[in-house]
Amino acid sequence: MSSEPPAVASANTQSLTERPAWKALDQHYQAIHNLHMRQLFADDPQRGERFTAEAAGIYLDYSKNRITDETCRLLVQLAEECDLRKRIDAMFSGEHINSTEQRAVLHIALRASEGEQVIVDGIDVVPEVHAVLERMAAFTDQLYNGQWKGYTGKRIRNIINIGIGGSDLGPVMAYEALRYYSRRDMNFRFVSNVDATDFKEATRDISPEETLFIICSKTFTTTETLANAHSARKWILDELADVRAVRKHFVAVSTNAEEVSNFGIDPANMFGFWDWVGGRYSMESAIGLSTMIAIGPDNFRAMLVGFHAMDQHFRTAPFDKNLPVLIGLLGIWYNNFFNSQTIAVLPYDQYLKRFPAYLQQLTMESNGKQVTLNGTRVNYQTSPIVWGEPGTNGQHSFYQLVHQGTRLIPCDFIGFCQTLNPLGNHHDMLMANLFAQTEALAFGKTREEVKAAGTPDWLCPHRSFEGNRPTNTILAERLTPYTLGTLVALYEHSVFTQGTIWNIDSFDQWGVELGKALAKRIVQELETESDLPLKHDSSTNTLMRRYGRFKKPQS
Ligand code: F6P
Repeated sequence: MSSEPPAVASANTQSLTERPAWKALDQHYQAIHNLHMRQLFADDPQRGERFTAEAAGIYLDYSKNRITDETCRLLVQLAEECDLRKRIDAMFSGEHINSTEQRAVLHIALRASEGEQVIVDGIDVVPEVHAVLERMAAFTDQLYNGQWKGYTGKRIRNIINIGIGGSDLGPVMAYEALRYYSRRDMNFRFVSNVDATDFKEATRDISPEETLFIICSKTFTTTETLANAHSARKWILDELADVRAVRKHFVAVSTNAEEVSNFGIDPANMFGFWDWVGGRYSMESAIGLSTMIAIGPDNFRAMLVGFHAMDQHFRTAPFDKNLPVLIGLLGIWYNNFFNSQTIAVLPYDQYLKRFPAYLQQLTMESNGKQVTLNGTRVNYQTSPIVWGEPGTNGQHSFYQLVHQGTRLIPCDFIGFCQTLNPLGNHHDMLMANLFAQTEALAFGKTREEVKAAGTPDWLCPHRSFEGNRPTNTILAERLTPYTLGTLVALYEHSVFTQGTIWNIDSFDQWGVELGKALAKRIVQELETESDLPLKHDSSTNTLMRRYGRFKKPQS
């Protein structure tokens, strides 16, 4: 890599906190932060209709936020001052906006329709993208019609995806989210953790003869994935006792053909992607092979159409009507002016149970950065901590803190007008809870109201709700592959919007390297039975020695 920092044409150089819009937002915050949503709604009967936006089948109600028209105007001005438009264009046109890795960032090319052009370093990549999709679809058909069989001639019934981070969270989230559309005559499992429990539990009740492993790793050097892949290879060979079986029971998804073949997988059984696809932005590339096998090529394509619809909206809509931009800017408002620390994502749909975990990597690995694009330390907070669970379950665990705790926690509520599983009035109950929560969080219940209901004085403080707790409500008609695509792209682009405002590289992840390097060294030390003095700090040395003493069951 060059010793000179790369020039990033679209990068902005002015300090964020010196920008006129930032300063104006600071002052504006002082003026309005005590305003209550009760007041805002009372003053404007149309508020619940005005502060909304809609695109690609997603309806966003952002009226239950601590904002006025002026807040929105200033946030949009901030986006403009930070050259968001230029950065969006730079991303879509293949500029190397991942500057620390000197790469283009083009997950949007993965969902471009055939015939569109996306140029990376002078080459239109869309035909390659569609060629891989075709191969994935052909492979899926072969599994379905039994042309691709296991080594002993049995049909493949079990698909096990081995990968971690973006090579796991996207596939597992998409499988769970779209399970309704999935083949019920096949099992889909996901092994990520190097803790052998993950692998053992995934394989304990299935036959190697009917099992296909998809080894997903962009780099094909990730130690956890390779450890699990080697254990999978052994598991297959222990049963089938012929190295030729590997061909029929392993395929790989990677950008690294050399390492794939070093592992022993025939590159003919490899599905490729490209270094301009970040791991956490890869679920609709070949990394989504398990998704395609689960839901079928047509549904997979419908998901890509959903992604693409949101991409187009993000690229073209004015900022004040642009869903990812609005969500991103509202996040900035709470993170940087209200100093909120976290954001909760609360899907009212059991199928989206892994969506918050997926968003954790997307958001925190992208924007958990402490230096700007030019390497100077930021003097403002960057990524919030993202967490969440499906409703209504969360209501019976952590919502207490969201309603009455001392912290301000902006929440995104996600719901669907139609259920995929009609059963009595369950869906009305589910959605009633979603609407009730956002209403309760915004408006609360005053001491006077509590008292008027007959509550004794001493109990009133405990039973009062301050309210004024911000929420976004994201409503779509029905959870379909298309909708999932729009939802994921919505969050991808809102993360990018925030990274642009914070002037950081949202597409690298250097922060994971140190722990990886240390673990490599420590595992060797743990495996060598030597009395050589350990050279870590006294805490790490003592822990390792204790582990060494007790790692074998004591007789
Ligand atoms: O360690 C972090 C990370 O590099 C993620 O960014 C990535 O999604 C994950 O590891 C897995 O990487 P790979 O697909 O190369 O195995």
